[in-house]
Amino acid sequence: MTTIDLRSRLAGRVALVTAAGQGIGRAVAERLAGEGAEVHACDLNPASMAQTPFASARVVDACDAAAVADWMAPFARIDILVHAVGYVHQGSIEETSPQEWRRSLGITLDSAYVVLGAAVPRMKAWGGSVITIASVASSIKGFPRRAAYGAAKGGVIGLTKACAADYIAQGLRFNAVCPGTVDTPSLRDRITELAQVLGSLEAAEKAFLDRQPSGRLGTTQEIAGICAFLASDDGRFVTGQAINVDGGITI
Ligand SMILES: NC(=O)c1ccc[n+]([C@@H]2O[C@H](COP(=O)([O-])OP(=O)(O)OC[C@H]3O[C@@H](n4cnc5c(N)ncnc54)[C@H](O)[C@@H]3O)[C@@H](O)[C@H]2O)c1
Repeated sequence: MTTIDLRSRLAGRVALVTAAGQGIGRAVAERLAGEGAEVHACDLNPASMAQTPFASARVVDACDAAAVADWMAPFARIDILVHAVGYVHQGSIEETSPQEWRRSLGITLDSAYVVLGAAVPRMKAWGGSVITIASVASSIKGFPRRAAYGAAKGGVIGLTKACAADYIAQGLRFNAVCPGTVDTPSLRDRITELAQVLGSLEAAEKAFLDRQPSGRLGTTQEIAGICAFLASDDGRFVTGQAINVDGGITI
């Protein structure tokens, strides 16, 4: 019988995580570090990067190609990349201005192009694992008032699959993790925003919970666990997948 010690499953691996200041990105960074990876975190929010348990933490705007190149410059070799940056605009196509559309695609999809594009040259000689945090609100399922977000996350899934096809021969794997509704600071902001439309916080909370057949929100740790699996050799036969971690939304 083979015994796997999760505290060392990722030992010796260099892992870069974007949006690691809070929420899903933070939980993923902590989980990878907990499994022995050398984690280098970045986030746009300086306060979130001031004191971290990681090997390094930098303030980086993942949409800024020069800033991302500067962040990655010290790493000749990257084994794991998790790109968790995303922005949820709430609105139907009629409620989405050209500016909001551009902002949504800019933060969510353009950042994936910038970050994955910068990392691939530092990964393809050795193979490794790239994980994008997409969403079930994407090409997987339509949700009300998610026109720009759904389009952007569908793009993230498409980019992830295209990269998986391009680099499979080099042993470089790309997978998209597609969460359902996960309790994070930004979800709490969206509940507050929706409360203004629906008239009460209770109604807004109920609207988000009603999307979840599981009857509860997901936790950031539940997303981090699947990312650690995909980052590890346990996931080495998995590539080009969009993996729903959604509490039953897509049953
Ligand atoms: N929470 C959910 O229910 C849910 C569901 C599906 C998918 N997701 C996706 O998971 C990811 C993380 O979501 P979350 O809810 O944990 O978000 P969050 O808002 O709680 O955290 C996002 C973090 O990203 C950082 N960030 C924002 N723009 C950035 C940029 N340009 N460069 C670097 N960092 C930046 C923020 O400072 C923040 O620390 C996002 O891509 C989101 O779309 C979340």
